[in-house]
Amino acid sequence: IQRPLIDSYGRQVNYLRVSVTDRCDFRCTYCMGENMVFLPKSEVLSFEEIQTIIAQFVARGVRKVRLTGGEPLVRRDIMKLIAALSESHLAQGTLDELTITTNGSQLARHAAELARLGIRRINVSLDTLDNALFTEITRRGRLSQVLEGIEAAQAVGIAVKLNMVAMKGVNEDEIIPMMEWAHARGYELTLIEAMPLGEVALDRADAHLSLKQVHDRIAERFTLEHIAKRTGGPARYKRVTETGGTLGFITPLSHNFCESCNRVRLTCTGQLYMCLGQDDRVDLRAALREGGVEALDAALDRAMIAKPKGHDFVAERIQTPSVVRHMSVTGG
Ligand code: GTP
Ligand code: 5AD
Ligand code: SF4
Repeated sequence: IQRPLIDSYGRQVNYLRVSVTDRCDFRCTYCMGENMVFLPKSEVLSFEEIQTIIAQFVARGVRKVRLTGGEPLVRRDIMKLIAALSESHLAQGTLDELTITTNGSQLARHAAELARLGIRRINVSLDTLDNALFTEITRRGRLSQVLEGIEAAQAVGIAVKLNMVAMKGVNEDEIIPMMEWAHARGYELTLIEAMPLGEVALDRADAHLSLKQVHDRIAERFTLEHIAKRTGGPARYKRVTETGGTLGFITPLSHNFCESCNRVRLTCTGQLYMCLGQDDRVDLRAALREGGVEALDAALDRAMIAKPKGHDFVAERIQTPSVVRHMSVTGG
C-alpha cells in the first residue's frame, strides 16, 4: 500500500461508501420530501470515474467499499459497475468486501448475479412489516417486492442485515416483532436513530426515539449479550440469547462513535465528505477531471487533513437539519 489514509486524529480510513445515484424509487418520509428534485444526470460521475476513484482509494489502503444511493440498484447498468469492481478488486484480493445498501425493491431480479459477483452480505432497509405503514413511510414502495428481494438474496447465500429506522409513534411498537421475525429467518437487524439531514416532512423531534431506551426495554424481555463483532460500521452489536440472532444499534444521537470512525463517503457527483454530519468536502471530480490521478491522490491527502473529529448531531436540535444535503446524496 502506498501511504495509508490517516487523518489528523490518527484514524485510518479503510472503508469507502459510494453513492452511485441520488435517485430512488421510494420517498421515505425521514429521507426526502414527496417532490424531491434529483440531480441532472450530467452532474453524476460516470462508471469510469467511479472506478478510477475507487481504485485510488484501494491503492491507499481501503479494504471495504459499500455502494449506496439513493437506491443503487436503480442506476442504469449498475450490475456492469459491480461486475467491473468485483473483477478488479475482489478477484485480485485488493478488497476484502464489496457490498451494497439497498431498499430491496429491485433485489429479487439481481440477487443471483450479485452472489455470483462475490457479494456476500447486503444491507436492506426495512422499517415495518405492515403493508399500510410501509406505503406510508416509503410513499411509493411495495412491501411484498422488498420481502421477495430479501428472500431471493438469502436463497442464493447472501447474508442479509435489515436496517430499521426507529421512529416514535410510527414503528416503535414493531421493533420487538421485527426482531423476532428477522431472527427467526436468519437475518440480522440493526436499529438506527433518524439523523437530521435535509428537509423532510417527518417531524424529527416528534419521531425521535432514543435507542438507549429501546435497548433497555428489549432487555426487560430478552437477554442481550454484548458481542465484539466489528463490521467496520458504526453499529454496536448484541447477541439475543432467546432468538439466537444479532441486534445492532446505530445511535449517532444518544451515543457518539466518531472516535473510531474509519470511513469517508463519496457522493454521486464526486464530492468526498469526510463525515456524514459535517459539510467539509473535497471535490474529487474536479481534481480528477482537471489533474488526473495525480491530482486525485493529492486531494485524498487534503481530505485526510480536513476530516473533522466528529459530527454535530444532537438530540436537542434534531428538527432543524444540521446538514442541508439529503442522505440520498451522501449515501448514509
Ligand atoms: P455494516 O456495518 O458494514 O453492516 O454497514 P453500516 O451499518 O455502516 O452501513 P449501512 O449502509 O447499513 O448504514 C446503516 C446506517 O448507519 C445508515 O443510516 C447510515 O447513515 C449510518 N451510518 C453509517 N456510517 C455512519 C457514520 O459514520 N456516522 C453516522 N452518524 N451514521 C452512519
Ligand atoms: N437517518 C437515519 N437513517 C437514515 N436512512 C436514510 N435516511 C436516514 C436518516 N435521516 C437509512 C436508510 C438506510 C440507510 C442507508 O440509511 O433507511 O437503511
Ligand atoms: Fe430511498 Fe433509502 Fe431514502 Fe428511502 S431511505 S427514500 S429507500 S434512499
